[in-house]
Amino acid sequence: MNSEPTLHTSSATLANMAQQYARFAPLTRRPASASITRSNSQYRALATNYDATTPRIEALRDAAHQLLSLKPGDTVLDVGCGTGKSLPALSHAVGPTGRVIAIEPCAEMMMLARSRVRELGLSNVDLIEAQAAALGEAIEVDSIDAVLMMFTHDVLQSSAALDHLLAIAKNGARFALAGGKLFSGTLSLLNPWVEWRQKPYCTTFENYDAPWRKLFDTQALCSTCVHPRYMGIAYIAHGVRAK
Ligand SMILES: C[S@@+](CC[C@H](N)C(=O)[O-])C[C@H]1O[C@@H](n2cnc3c(N)ncnc32)[C@H](O)[C@@H]1O
Repeated sequence: MNSEPTLHTSSATLANMAQQYARFAPLTRRPASASITRSNSQYRALATNYDATTPRIEALRDAAHQLLSLKPGDTVLDVGCGTGKSLPALSHAVGPTGRVIAIEPCAEMMMLARSRVRELGLSNVDLIEAQAAALGEAIEVDSIDAVLMMFTHDVLQSSAALDHLLAIAKNGARFALAGGKLFSGTLSLLNPWVEWRQKPYCTTFENYDAPWRKLFDTQALCSTCVHPRYMGIAYIAHGVRAK
């Protein structure tokens, strides 16, 4: 007779184990803080295929643009503009008397944004190759009418970057955010998969359950609102700078 022990694992036990893992996995390791060096290296590798591999974020992009309520003559800041996918729409919305300032720290992503701006002749767009926290005096305090943060989780977790963005935004400036987040409720079982999927696009999972938290906790914005999207795996959030 075979005396090898047999492992009987019922599906209920497996479900229970998965639930425990999903609940505790994110807590057992401290989320690393954002690293611009790692981010630049990740986006260096992603740049060439970035547009082709991220089609699903386009519906969120249009919604985020609407929330900026741009009008001709406005100055809008595109934080972490990447390959510049938002730039044509922003440029059109603020018109020839307005200005789009786009900042991006990864040289390879910026190169693609620069080509897009040149090819489309977007003459009201200024590109700055820098991370949000290191803009120095490149942008004047109280000069920005609207701030777009489209899938920029790392920036949202940097207090230095947020302080700077809040300082250059005018009183009444509109902030529009969109990005990925963790599931909540039963679907949180899938969060280890979510983190795995999103790992190439950010260097920290701090506040990934509510990416807007650090910005909203500053109390520097009023009329804040968050809309979950795609069953809660993404969000759009907005608010108005109150000085
Ligand atoms: C997921 S991509 C989003 C690109 C673009 N906003 C879009 O909607 O397609 C995130 C971008 O944020 C940039 N980024 C990362 N850290 C940043 C920082 N500290 N300041 C500004 N941009 C940053 C990355 O280089 C990358 O291009």
